[in-house]
Amino acid sequence: MTSSTFQDTVAQFVLSKEQVEKIINGLNDELVEGLTTTDPKNITQQPSFITRLPTGKETGLYLAIDMGGTNLRTAAVHLLGDGQVGVTMEKHEITHELKTGTGEAMFDWIADCTAQLLKSVALDMGNAELQMGVTFSFAIQQTAINRGKVLAMGKGFDLSDVMGKDLKDLLEGGFTRKNLPVTVSAIINDTVGTLVSHAYVSPSTKIGVILATGTNAAYIERASEVSKYNGPACDQMILNTEWDAMGKAEYLPQTKYDKEIDAVSLVPGFQEFEKMVSGLYMGELVRLALVDLIEQNAIFESLGGKVPESLKPRLAFKTLFMSTIESDNNTDHTAVDKVFKTSFGIEGLTSQDRARVFELIHTIGQRSATMTAAACAALLYKANGTSVKLDDANEITTIGIDGSVFEKYPHFSHSMMDALTEIFGKDRASRIRLELARDGGCIGAALVAMVSHSGGAV
Ligand code: BGC
Repeated sequence: MTSSTFQDTVAQFVLSKEQVEKIINGLNDELVEGLTTTDPKNITQQPSFITRLPTGKETGLYLAIDMGGTNLRTAAVHLLGDGQVGVTMEKHEITHELKTGTGEAMFDWIADCTAQLLKSVALDMGNAELQMGVTFSFAIQQTAINRGKVLAMGKGFDLSDVMGKDLKDLLEGGFTRKNLPVTVSAIINDTVGTLVSHAYVSPSTKIGVILATGTNAAYIERASEVSKYNGPACDQMILNTEWDAMGKAEYLPQTKYDKEIDAVSLVPGFQEFEKMVSGLYMGELVRLALVDLIEQNAIFESLGGKVPESLKPRLAFKTLFMSTIESDNNTDHTAVDKVFKTSFGIEGLTSQDRARVFELIHTIGQRSATMTAAACAALLYKANGTSVKLDDANEITTIGIDGSVFEKYPHFSHSMMDALTEIFGKDRASRIRLELARDGGCIGAALVAMVSHSGGAV
């Protein structure tokens, strides 16, 4: 009885071939819809105003900041040409107080972190204004290469007084209040930064993906397809897909746990795809399923159906625990014991408990990899024949992927590649490369700042 309860729960996270196909088609339709939509609520397919990839020859010294869901990175980036860069980077955790406080407090803090970097690198440019590239891991509606309105912020941010305001003004407001001579010369989404910076080192890169706290991708699209774009004329442009915000009930295979995550989130109904896939939510899915299984006595039976207090808080089970457990090659899954004892004070697990926790975690991790691959497939189909040439045996398409889930989650890249091979067949899939892209945020921002500041279209 408990075994079938457990197997039924796990089975909800297993995707069939048909479900994967539905996801690809559904996302593909949304990619097309986002190009032409006039619905202000649809934040997908945002033009970046960047019209070409770097050549690898760019040089110069630029400041960069990368504001993500968890950390703020500040950097001095020295572009050395030949795809080489020298970076001095500092990392600061964004506290819950900052995430849910006022815009002014947030942008004052960013200016303080920038001042600290300038002190550490002893950067003295006399009276010259320092040029800064900014990577922002949230949706913005760009109005120029260095301007954009903040559209929406997920990932536990609640800065309502910032919505709809121009990010350059917000940042420079902080710099002025702190007397820093810094000008924002480029603003990019983190996926655009990943695409640009990975193309600098690996020129076959056509798509940039982030798979971390959140998830999203950028690619290159023909400008003639982007009817909602009304900036300077160009042939092609990097688009920030905001695929995180895609996902309709008709094709997303949401379990009751996915629905619960959405229902109790700060913005229900927003970022349905991201909530099924990214690092902020994977661990929470495990926790919700575990709580349900414990209550039904289908796991940890020694607890007698009572859920320990330690497992009750939202987000208590971190995605990092999933990586730790999946990294353990021991067939008895002793890492499960360690995680539950150390982080939740739960002891006395049986070997069946350990095997079940492992299976649940593995299945949820696999689902994330398969859904990310499905989203990449939707994008590859959309770009095929233009920036991507999957049918040309001499062309390689590299997808640069940044983010802790892709980098640290065991076998994630293999699982994604397996799913892509299933989708495209061996021949076409052999021309797709998934490459880890690192520090794309700061380097990408510096590259775009460099070209924007020197007056050229990127
Ligand atoms: C944001 C995107 C960002 C992605 C990855 C999402 O929550 O809306 O703008 O690119 O996370 O960081």
